[in-house]
Amino acid sequence: MKVTVVGAGNVGATCADVLAHKEIANEIILLDIKEGFAEGKALDIWQTSPVNLYDSRTIGSTNDYSKTADSDVVVITSGLPRKPGMSRDDLIATNAGIVKTVTENVVKYSPNAVIIVVSNPLDVMTYCAYLTAKLDSKKVFGMAGVLDTARYRAFLATELNVSPKDIQAVLMGGHGDTMVPLPRYTTVAGIPVTELISEDKLNEIIERTKFGGGEIVKLLGTSAWYAPGAAAAQMVEAVVRDQRRIFPVCAWLQGEYGMNDIYLGVPVVLGKNGIEKIIELDLNDAEKTLLKESAEAVKSVMDVLDNMNVANA
Ligand code: NAI
Ligand code: 2OP
Repeated sequence: MKVTVVGAGNVGATCADVLAHKEIANEIILLDIKEGFAEGKALDIWQTSPVNLYDSRTIGSTNDYSKTADSDVVVITSGLPRKPGMSRDDLIATNAGIVKTVTENVVKYSPNAVIIVVSNPLDVMTYCAYLTAKLDSKKVFGMAGVLDTARYRAFLATELNVSPKDIQAVLMGGHGDTMVPLPRYTTVAGIPVTELISEDKLNEIIERTKFGGGEIVKLLGTSAWYAPGAAAAQMVEAVVRDQRRIFPVCAWLQGEYGMNDIYLGVPVVLGKNGIEKIIELDLNDAEKTLLKESAEAVKSVMDVLDNMNVANA
């Protein structure tokens, strides 16, 4: 299996490192536009192989897409990260230009690849990649829900002082402050979370999750990379190993949840073809309202992209 990661920055290099370390693909191409950067990161990653005892090979490339040819999966992390005070949506114009060019090159050399977008603003960059790639929407989707759910699960594990392995959760909506955590679908080893935690504490954790990206930006001066890189690698693993795992993924909706022509986070089955199935939960009225609000926020940024005409230019 061959996996390309475009963007050898914080998230891309972390993703490549996890892919290599866990032997999720035997060939990993790390590509960046900055001269020598991807080669340097790839060499450093490869030099962990004798220490960490694996044989997946990571190879770097400065913008030479011929090296990415026939990739099975491509992860797009190229773009600017969010700086303090900047919203994800501020990034739109710059990152749309980058995602469009990158996607064109990716599809030229790997027309059958599954494409996983990470660049922000996530839902809209995924839409941009979809418009550019002109592939089946089941093969073009975005990573956000796995990260947002991981943050929610980690906060719950800390609060309950239990293993995060035992916390199952699903979170829907856009990758932004309007994301929709679903306490009704959160369990701890099968026990509904509401039986283990007070409503106030749970609401506090939900609020912290919604602003989980911003919390790290404030602390680090740039956005997170360990959890985002690992989350993207987990999605790659589900595809290359045809695991049929259920993850919240930014997917193109055509009628699901009563929505059309929008990329939004929903639970899906991920397997060798990409999105094998979108799972439709029986949401209650309050959850539906929150999802609708989140969809409206995403749609307004999609409209910005449509009006800029970047993807179709
Ligand atoms: P970074 O600045 O460390 O890395 C970005 C890399 O992209 C740089 O090395 C840069 O040279 C490269 N790049 C820029 N234009 C390129 C092009 N045309 N072709 C190839 N490479 C190009 O940024 P970081 O922290 O890795 O974040 C990457 C993106 O991921 C950002 O947009 C960030 O907001 C987003 N992100 C999304 C998350 C999510 O949950 N979806 C979570 C964390 C970050
Ligand atoms: C995050 O959630 C900024 O999207 C990035 O960490």
